[in-house]
Amino acid sequence: MRHDLSDLADTKQNDIQVAHPLMLTPGILALLSGDGPVRIPVARPSLPRTDLLVPYLRQIDETQIYANHGPLVDQFEARMAARLGLQRSEVISCNSGTMALVGLIRATRSLWNHPGRLCLLPAYTFVATAGAVMSCGYECHLVDIDPVSWAMEPAALRSHPRLSEVGLVVPVAPYGRMIDLQGWQDFQSETGIPVVVDAAACLDQLMRDSSCVPEAVPLALSLHATKSFGSGEGGLVLSCNSTLVKETYKVLNNGFFGSRDAQTVGLNGKMSEYTAVVALAELDGFADKLARWAKVAEAYAAAPPAAGVRLWTAPDVSACYALAEVGSAGHAADLRARLTDRGIDVRNWYGAGLPAHPAYAHLWKDTLTVSNDIASRVIGLPCFTDLTDTDISRITAELR
Ligand SMILES: Cc1ncc(COP(=O)(O)O)c(C=O)c1O
Repeated sequence: MRHDLSDLADTKQNDIQVAHPLMLTPGILALLSGDGPVRIPVARPSLPRTDLLVPYLRQIDETQIYANHGPLVDQFEARMAARLGLQRSEVISCNSGTMALVGLIRATRSLWNHPGRLCLLPAYTFVATAGAVMSCGYECHLVDIDPVSWAMEPAALRSHPRLSEVGLVVPVAPYGRMIDLQGWQDFQSETGIPVVVDAAACLDQLMRDSSCVPEAVPLALSLHATKSFGSGEGGLVLSCNSTLVKETYKVLNNGFFGSRDAQTVGLNGKMSEYTAVVALAELDGFADKLARWAKVAEAYAAAPPAAGVRLWTAPDVSACYALAEVGSAGHAADLRARLTDRGIDVRNWYGAGLPAHPAYAHLWKDTLTVSNDIASRVIGLPCFTDLTDTDISRITAELR
């Protein structure tokens, strides 16, 4: 019997909809007493087992290089570039998806030298998007999303009343759903405003179809343990513009490039050799992991449909998400309560949107009708590679 309630206290991914430990409903009491069914957590990451790490760890013992772009980080970046059909100079790793955004935003600012200090970004995203933008000195203006793509759309921004103040646009690929990258490239070339894409959850999609990597706009990706490809914490910067990648490298390397003189104001955003060990082992086994992810998505898709519930699974979203979209906020609230009461954890990965977080409540914003609506109707269901068909049947039965 798994009683561990530690996930309930995990605030990493905005689990504001998970039952508060003090809300002891009959279902939760049954779970705690051991009388109820086993609780299904919303995420239970599975990274490479120790045995698979050991050969790489032994290489660290030999080289005694632990940090600063060591040989394992180099190997990971080179292999990932090849896997994605990119040049070696078009990929760098870093220590989180947030740092990938920070590095790219700072590098973009220094290369473009755009005077605008306003950034447009969608209201419906994980808090890290806004945190990264603001930590680079931009002011944020939150834009509504499209009801079909759940993303900020380039056509909508072209006529934005504040466009003349804008120096950066950060579209987000929500849950790893591919966004209109060609549209963003056109937006960038037509307006002269640089675009940096928060593609945090897109790696499995890009590994399936690397032709998605755009020519002219860079992508920031997360390798967080909960993502489909995980290294614990970690991030990737992808761009076909090698000059931008080199500038990002400098930003994330305390400003250094080939000498001990800082050439730009930098930070330490480097991936450590230990993280590269996990990332390399994850890459070794990723074909198998993708097959396990696919099995989970297929089991969800095969469940008898529930009236009024649309299930979103891979490949429409990243494999690490299973989402239930329902028709009204009331239906969603009922479902969340029922699932939680029956020992099935759910999570609103993006909370109720950025303005619902105290830290971001003060940001400028457009009318956010769609963002608020989607946030209230989309529920993150359990999704991890160890989820069994029986678990999925139990979850989907509760949706009906
Ligand atoms: C949309 C989005 N942006 C940025 C991030 C930040 O990535 P990381 O947790 O690797 O810093 C995440 C992580 O979940 C995310 O979902």
